[in-house]
Amino acid sequence: MAYQSLFPKLQTGLVFAAITVLAATVTATSCRNIPGDRGWPSPAAWSSFNDTIGGRLIATIPQASVCHTSPFSNYDATACEALRARWNTAGIFGSHPAEIVNAFYQNQSCDPFTPSTRPCELGNYAVYSVNVSGAQDVKAAIGFARKNNIRLVIKTTGHDYTGKSSGQGSLSLWMWNLKSKILIPQYRSRSYSGPAIKLGAGVLVGDGVTAARDAGYRLVAGECLTIAVAGGYTQGGGHSMLNTAYGMAADQVLEWEVVTATGEYLIATPEQNSDLYWALSGGSPGAFGVVLSMTAKIHPDGPIAGGSLSFPNSNPDKFWEAVSLWIQQASRLVGQNNTIIYLISSDGFQAMAMTLPDQPESAVQSLLSPYLAHLDRLNIAYSLTTSHAPTYHDHFQVYFGAYPENPTTILNNRIIPRSVSDSPNATAKLIDAFRGTVSQGRFILGCSIMDVSRTPHPPNAVLPAWRDTATSCNVNGFWNFTAPIEVNHALKKELVEVHMPKIEAATPGGGVYANEMDPWYKGDWKRSLYGTNYDRLLSIKKKYDPDSLLWGNFSVGSDGSFIDGRGRLCKR
Ligand SMILES: Cc1cc2nc3c(=O)[nH]c(=O)nc-3n(C[C@H](O)[C@H](O)[C@H](O)COP(=O)(O)OP(=O)(O)OC[C@H]3O[C@@H](n4cnc5c(N)ncnc54)[C@H](O)[C@@H]3O)c2cc1C
Ligand SMILES: *[C@@H]1O[C@H](CO)[C@@H](O)[C@H](O)[C@H]1NC(C)=O
Ligand SMILES: *[C@@H]1O[C@H](CO)[C@@H](O)[C@H](O)[C@H]1NC(C)=O
Ligand SMILES: *[C@@H]1O[C@H](CO)[C@@H](O)[C@H](O)[C@H]1NC(C)=O
Ligand SMILES: *[C@@H]1O[C@H](CO)[C@@H](O)[C@H](O)[C@H]1NC(C)=O
Ligand SMILES: *[C@@H]1O[C@H](CO)[C@@H](O)[C@H](O)[C@H]1NC(C)=O
Ligand SMILES: *[C@@H]1O[C@H](CO)[C@@H](O)[C@H](O)[C@H]1NC(C)=O
Ligand SMILES: *[C@@H]1O[C@H](CO)[C@@H](O)[C@H](O)[C@H]1NC(C)=O
Repeated sequence: MAYQSLFPKLQTGLVFAAITVLAATVTATSCRNIPGDRGWPSPAAWSSFNDTIGGRLIATIPQASVCHTSPFSNYDATACEALRARWNTAGIFGSHPAEIVNAFYQNQSCDPFTPSTRPCELGNYAVYSVNVSGAQDVKAAIGFARKNNIRLVIKTTGHDYTGKSSGQGSLSLWMWNLKSKILIPQYRSRSYSGPAIKLGAGVLVGDGVTAARDAGYRLVAGECLTIAVAGGYTQGGGHSMLNTAYGMAADQVLEWEVVTATGEYLIATPEQNSDLYWALSGGSPGAFGVVLSMTAKIHPDGPIAGGSLSFPNSNPDKFWEAVSLWIQQASRLVGQNNTIIYLISSDGFQAMAMTLPDQPESAVQSLLSPYLAHLDRLNIAYSLTTSHAPTYHDHFQVYFGAYPENPTTILNNRIIPRSVSDSPNATAKLIDAFRGTVSQGRFILGCSIMDVSRTPHPPNAVLPAWRDTATSCNVNGFWNFTAPIEVNHALKKELVEVHMPKIEAATPGGGVYANEMDPWYKGDWKRSLYGTNYDRLLSIKKKYDPDSLLWGNFSVGSDGSFIDGRGRLCKR
């Protein structure tokens, strides 16, 4: 106080000078260097970095360079044709460093469908990747990225919908090759005693489910075989056909093995580094550190009853009444342990995968019979098939084994509060919004009936809206690779500007699953994606990544940076 009143002039001058110096420093370092910038490391610097990581540095050569005559000089019309045929499958991008699934972020920079004379550019792809083999590689890359002020991204499979696993001018940590799977028959901690499995960061859903099955257990994992269990999937929450029986994928986690953004190797459990454990379990994928492995609970395997119910949209008013009644039954259909995946399109309804763990096949018919009575009353002819598989893996094969995995990269979702699906009037409003969404045949709804409010789990950052829902829906649109990119952008715009606002208006208090959203989403993202967890997640982010080395669109703390006109990541 005394100081201020005695030297007001001097103090102002000093503060002003300090601000000027600070501003100059901020300008010089506020954007990450990209190729062409003076601060971008020289070839010699990259080469000596490569030496420190045992030669594990890979310069990006996009797969689709075979479709372009320059600058990679590996044009091959036959290989290009074969690549085109497989381009719309999510699985082909994981095993290549720096490649990503989402066509919006591929952005036609090196695309098999554009003319061969158009140069193959890196665009949003990382410039270099580290083929990570363990903690040392991660620490070295973090050190190199910090020293040279370059953008660092983490990629396992490249399935991310908001472009978080890629970035123009970046160095990428490619976690794909961490494939270890270790069964722990009797894991013991203060909160859990029972079977567990430790999965390296590169283990995919298909491999994880199979490994658990081989040991007589079920693993909570998603419907897409080519997602990384310990990657964005579980870190973002993780929905699965086993959710109602055991909770979200994040609820299963016992330990995370991590190198934090400051290069510290840590184990995070509900007891040890519990704030980091809390944040990694469902919080904001890739925002806190680099996960090397995850140890998760597994559950005794056994038979699963399954079913599929479908009916066409032959009379729209009756059809939508039937869909409305289905949604109103969500709270009842979950029973004790059931999860049901269903699709709604302008053509019809299909409950394509009903999962009734440890139930006889006849349970499917009994579960559905009150609903089937409604269909009979409405004069709607339906088709119902049931199944009974000896293990979860076999059940998965029946419904998703031959799943083509065409990514629907124009998508958003809504987690619908129980207060809506339990109320006929509120459901009627939602049905109006759904009806408008699918009416032109451009979108289909992919939904799930589940309840994750009941199973006990350690405190974690799973979006609270998940605990308050009996059904959630994805709105899926399909990218057309042969159409001009503007056509696809228009479809995205329609989704986020026309349909999502109507669906949100009909579902007050609901949420949005950050793992399955569109980057043009217009809603209140902090509240929709993170709910009441946001502030705590941000403070944990500041603790483990104080200078925001790890950045992702819609991640916790993402509004501290932006992408500039040259595609550089810059601090605000
Ligand atoms: C075809 C398809 C089907 C899907 N099906 C389901 C489903 O059934 N259920 C469901 O819940 N979700 C589903 N998703 C969404 C999926 O959960 C997300 O795309 C998820 O982010 C994928 O994680 P990944 O690590 O495989 O992908 P990546 O794109 O490699 O990474 C995703 C995010 O996680 C970060 N990350 C990856 N690895 C690590 C690591 N080792 N350490 C720290 N951060 C890391 C990345 O930086 C990025 O932010 C599906 C997606 C697609 C494309
Ligand atoms: C890194 O070193 C290995 C082994 O010497 C080499 O094969 C690889 O091409 C190098 N990576 C880059 C980007 O130069
Ligand atoms: C796609 O590329 C264009 C042209 O280079 C660029 O202006 C645009 O920002 C890019 N979009 C994305 C999502 O990266
Ligand atoms: C990455 O490293 C693994 C060993 O960890 C090796 O088998 C694989 O060939 C490497 N991949 C590439 C593309 O260099
Ligand atoms: C539901 O699952 C839990 C956890 O596996 C189990 O204890 C319970 O018996 C199951 N209930 C039914 C009806 O199968
Ligand atoms: C539901 O809507 C009907 C018709 O609009 C109305 O009469 C009724 O009061 C509403 N019910 C509730 C519980 O709001
Ligand atoms: C994709 O776009 C092309 C070119 O505009 C068009 O001919 C084709 O019918 C479209 N495909 C689909 C499935 O809409
Ligand atoms: C995400 O990226 C889009 C551009 O693709 C941008 O408009 C938006 O502001 C970003 N949002 C956040 C929260 O980072």
